[in-house]
Amino acid sequence: MGAFMKLLLLAVCAIWVLPGLAMAGITRHYKFNIVMQNVTRLCQTKSIVTVNGQFPGPRIVAREGDRLLIKVVNKVKHNVTLHWHGVRQLRSGWADGPAYITQCPIQTGQSYVYNFSITGQRGTLFWHAHISWLRATLYGPIVILPKKHVPYPFPQPFKEIPIVFGEWWKADTEKIISQALQSGGTPNISDAFTINGLPGPSYNCSAKDTFKLKVKPGKTYLLRMVNAALNDELFFSIANHSLTVVETDAVYVKPIKTNVVLITPGQTTNVLLKAKSKVPTAIFAIAARPYATGPATFDNTTTIGILEYEQPSSSKIKNRKFPLLKPVLPRFNDTKFSMKFSSKIRSLASAKFPANVPKKVNRRFFFTVGLGLSQCLKNQTCQGPNNTRLAASINNVSFVQPNIALLQAHFFKKSKGVYTTDFPTNPPFKFNYTGTPPKNLLVNSGTKVVVLPFKTNVELVMQDTSIFGAESHPLHLHGFNFFVVGQGIGNFNPKKDRAKFNLVDPAERNTVGVPSGGWVAIRFLADNPGVWFMHCHLEVHTSWGLKMAWIVKDGKRPRQKLPPPPSDLPKC
Ligand SMILES: *[C@@H]1O[C@H](CO)[C@@H](O)[C@H](O)[C@H]1NC(C)=O
Ligand SMILES: *[C@@H]1O[C@H](CO)[C@@H](O)[C@H](O)[C@H]1NC(C)=O
Ligand SMILES: *[C@@H]1O[C@H](CO)[C@@H](O)[C@H](O)[C@H]1NC(C)=O
Ligand SMILES: *[C@@H]1O[C@H](CO)[C@@H](O)[C@H](O)[C@H]1NC(C)=O
Ligand SMILES: *[C@@H]1O[C@H](CO)[C@@H](O)[C@H](O)[C@H]1NC(C)=O
Ligand SMILES: *[C@@H]1O[C@H](CO)[C@@H](O)[C@H](O)[C@H]1NC(C)=O
Ligand SMILES: *[C@@H]1O[C@H](CO)[C@@H](O)[C@H](O)[C@H]1NC(C)=O
Ligand SMILES: *[C@@H]1O[C@H](CO)[C@@H](O)[C@H](O)[C@H]1NC(C)=O
Ligand SMILES: *[C@@H]1O[C@H](CO)[C@@H](O)[C@H](O)[C@H]1NC(C)=O
Ligand SMILES: *[C@@H]1O[C@H](CO)[C@@H](O)[C@H](O)[C@H]1NC(C)=O
Ligand SMILES: *[C@@H]1O[C@H](CO)[C@@H](O)[C@H](O)[C@H]1NC(C)=O
Ligand SMILES: *[C@@H]1O[C@H](CO)[C@@H](O)[C@H](O)[C@H]1NC(C)=O
Repeated sequence: MGAFMKLLLLAVCAIWVLPGLAMAGITRHYKFNIVMQNVTRLCQTKSIVTVNGQFPGPRIVAREGDRLLIKVVNKVKHNVTLHWHGVRQLRSGWADGPAYITQCPIQTGQSYVYNFSITGQRGTLFWHAHISWLRATLYGPIVILPKKHVPYPFPQPFKEIPIVFGEWWKADTEKIISQALQSGGTPNISDAFTINGLPGPSYNCSAKDTFKLKVKPGKTYLLRMVNAALNDELFFSIANHSLTVVETDAVYVKPIKTNVVLITPGQTTNVLLKAKSKVPTAIFAIAARPYATGPATFDNTTTIGILEYEQPSSSKIKNRKFPLLKPVLPRFNDTKFSMKFSSKIRSLASAKFPANVPKKVNRRFFFTVGLGLSQCLKNQTCQGPNNTRLAASINNVSFVQPNIALLQAHFFKKSKGVYTTDFPTNPPFKFNYTGTPPKNLLVNSGTKVVVLPFKTNVELVMQDTSIFGAESHPLHLHGFNFFVVGQGIGNFNPKKDRAKFNLVDPAERNTVGVPSGGWVAIRFLADNPGVWFMHCHLEVHTSWGLKMAWIVKDGKRPRQKLPPPPSDLPKC
């Protein structure tokens, strides 16, 4: 056989073999040491909890189908857990991460290997701590590339750039939340927002900590955006450039051209940015500031990064100071924009990327979400009326964190004294949810869950309440993507509103904003056995109890059952 023939044969083999290998995916190893690190922002040095001393934390890069083995070693005094936000965790619930839901914390000196594969997902997600407020500094992006040789359903970008939003406090965030829970009042607001850990020039003493994006004229960039802020939804825009949204929560969407993107904590959004074909004589602000609807004060600052063009080497104007152009962002409480933007997000619903919306429903749930009051704990003086403290609830149940993980209690059939299965399907009583609130603002409390048989088709309507004022709540569901089949202002009307549900190409995501003074309807297929947390991704609301859990039972077949826990699963 001639050398040419051998080469040809090799090439043919490679073509046949490679896709096979790509199908199986590879195993990627990461080591995450949780360590303290001194970081200076806004002219102040602060010791923060980090992964490997990096802030923001390291980027995880994988391909669809890969397995990840992430060894987390805790070298700080805090208890730690990490969550792989949006990863479906099919039959790997032990690796999901929310403290006291799927695992006990990794205590000082201990380690745990998060072991999971990424199945049927590609796009941007992120990882973050899932205990107390440690995610303020423990977070980083997860980039999931499509399988080898599989293109994007949009033009291949020249470069891909993570844009991770965060929220910065000068004070220790663990002190901030413990002080708030102690006093029963609202936690102190943040001092800055950040882009990839950098607040930018709109803050005092911060110009040197500015994120800069340098682009080449005519090229297209994929911005992989993550909102890792603790308590604020964000409007995002780049001066004089329009953006094209192509993916949300690691699901491709029908392209949407827009000047402004709204991104809630817990959401991820990929956008294409096309650089102008001619080098302009200006630099452009990349800006984000809150969409805020709640009654409490909020951090009303703007974080700014800079988009600049590479000047041709022949350029004589290279060192000239260009003006910084700023974008126009919606008003802080622009709920109209928010609802319009979310309604534009649609699944591709193509043959390759179908939208498998549950058409028939087995169980319907109606959950009210909002704030309320709770009795002050013994030995405390609380700031609320009649010595109460602020609380938040779903169907009037403010979730009480158990002392051992729910998943362990469920798996080993030791739920007695840990949780009860009577989470209400409907609010305890009807009232005008978006009108005048009831006189009694107290909430109930308990560790209550919903139990679902394997493969239940669930419809869930989440209704905002106006107790202490209407407010948008970004609800995040672990373990599933759901379809956002409808949303509206006012009280949900089952007859009128259900008839208008979009069962064709609704957005498929893991986090959705319950509109301020309105409702949102989602559907999902409960095909993943385990215990799945659902909570408001405004961390302050999670702290106040706006959270609950779903238990999805095993199916009959072996591949429908949750395997036993790994041997290194932390103990309480
Ligand atoms: C942070 O700075 C403090 C005060 O200068 C110092 O004592 C400490 O060792 C530093 N920590 C780290 C992790 O570098
Ligand atoms: C990770 O999980 C897979 C699937 O359960 C298992 O086969 C493998 O042995 C695990 N790897 C480690 C290092 O625990
Ligand atoms: C929160 O703000 C109050 C009022 O400014 C201040 O007294 C308190 O020290 C702050 N808490 C923390 C943890 O910084
Ligand atoms: C910035 O610093 C100056 C001087 O220290 C101070 O007067 C001003 O109030 C600060 N501005 C903000 C927004 O903190
Ligand atoms: C930026 O946009 C403004 C408003 O549309 C326009 O007047 C200006 O010419 C633009 N500048 C550049 C450099 O694109
Ligand atoms: C937020 O700040 C902007 C200017 O930066 C101001 O116009 C607006 O009134 C402020 N809004 C609130 C609610 O404080
Ligand atoms: C937004 O805030 C402004 C200023 O506080 C207020 O006048 C306006 O009514 C608010 N809009 C909505 C929709 O709440
Ligand atoms: C109340 O606080 C006191 C003093 O800190 C303590 O001795 C006592 O046990 C506490 N009582 C309760 C019921 O927590
Ligand atoms: C506080 O308690 C008093 C007396 O029981 C009651 O009249 C009042 O309505 C209460 N206030 C609130 C805000 O619940
Ligand atoms: C509920 O309250 C809102 C706001 O006050 C009002 O517009 C609406 O008519 C009320 N709905 C019902 C059914 O009473
Ligand atoms: C919530 O539960 C508390 C305690 O049982 C009760 O007093 C209150 O009326 C309930 N409120 C609503 C809106 O269901
Ligand atoms: C860490 O977690 C363990 C197990 O739940 C608990 O007993 C301990 O009190 C926690 N430590 C801290 C500092 O919260």
